[in-house]
Amino acid sequence: MEPSEEFVFKHKGFYFQPDLVTPEYIDSLEDFEIRDSDVFIVTYPKSGTVWTQNILCLIYHEGHRDGTENMEIKYRVPWLEYNIYNMDYVHRPSPRLFTTHLPYYLVPRDLRNRRAKVIYVARNPKDVAVSYFHFSNLSVTLETIPDFNIFLERFLAGKVASSSWLDHVRGWSTHREEFNIFFLTYEEMKKDLRGAVLKICKFLGKQLNEKELDTVVENATFDKMKTDPRANYDSMQSNLQERGKGHFLRKGIIGDWKNTMTVAQSERFDNVFKEKMKDLSSTFSWDINDDI
Ligand code: A3P
Repeated sequence: MEPSEEFVFKHKGFYFQPDLVTPEYIDSLEDFEIRDSDVFIVTYPKSGTVWTQNILCLIYHEGHRDGTENMEIKYRVPWLEYNIYNMDYVHRPSPRLFTTHLPYYLVPRDLRNRRAKVIYVARNPKDVAVSYFHFSNLSVTLETIPDFNIFLERFLAGKVASSSWLDHVRGWSTHREEFNIFFLTYEEMKKDLRGAVLKICKFLGKQLNEKELDTVVENATFDKMKTDPRANYDSMQSNLQERGKGHFLRKGIIGDWKNTMTVAQSERFDNVFKEKMKDLSSTFSWDINDDI
C-alpha cells in the first residue's frame, strides 16, 4: 500500500513531510553555506536524535548545563530541512548546531568536503520500527497506522517519511570518506552514556572537566530528560503531537521490539534486512537480534 500524499511526498528519491518543507527549500540547501565550526547530528528518525540534541546542548552551553538558561533543544539544535520555527540559520552565531534526517546525497554541498563535523547516530532497526510505529500514531503530521503489521511492511519497503532505514544508514556509512563523520549507536549510548559523551567530546574537540561531564551525563538520562521541559518535546503537543496519546520520550530502552513483534514479523524483518546489513558490520556493532 502506498503512503498517503497527504503525509509524504517524494523528492529526489526521498520521502519528506509536506506540511514541514517544500521541494524548493530542499533544493536550496545544496548551496547552504557551511562553516568549519558547524556541527550536524544526522539520524534516521527514532534513532536517538533528541537524545543527541540534548547532549550537544549540554556540552556546548554552560547555561544549559547549570539550568540558568531555559531554551528548548529544538531551538538550539534546529532541523536543517524542517525550519518550522522560521529561524535565521544564515546569521546564527557560531558554533551552529543542526539536526537533519537528510540522506547523504541531499545535504549542503560544502558538508561533503569534510568541513563541518557530522555525528551520525544509528539504532537497531527493529527498535526503530517499533518506536516509529508508536510515533506515527502520536504525531499529527504523520499517517496514523494502527495496525503494526501494515506499518512494518511500509517500513521495510521504505514507504515512510525519511524512506528506507537501510538506504539511509548504508548511504552515510559507505560515503563516510566524504565527510568529517563520527558514528555512534543508540545502544552504545544506552549501555555506557558517559563513555559515549566522552567520545562525542573527543570528536568535537571539547574538553569538559569531571564535574561538567557528570552534569552532562546526569541530564542526558532518560528519566531526567522526561522531566526536563527543554528536552522532552512535550511542547510539541500543542502543534505536532496529539495530546493524551503518549509522549515523545516513550520507553527509551533496547530491545522493545521483542514486546511488539511476533516471531513471524521478526523473521520477516530478518529476511528483508539481515543479508543486506552484512556490509554494515564494520560500522555498527549490533546484530539486529542481539540481546541486551
Ligand atoms: P522509544 O520510542 O523506543 O522510547 P528520535 O529522537 O530519533 O525521534 O528517537 C526517539 C527515541 O529515542 C524514543 O524511543 C525515545 O524514547 C528515545 N530516547 C530519547 N531520549 C532518550 C534517553 N535519554 N535515553 C534513552 N532513550 C531516549
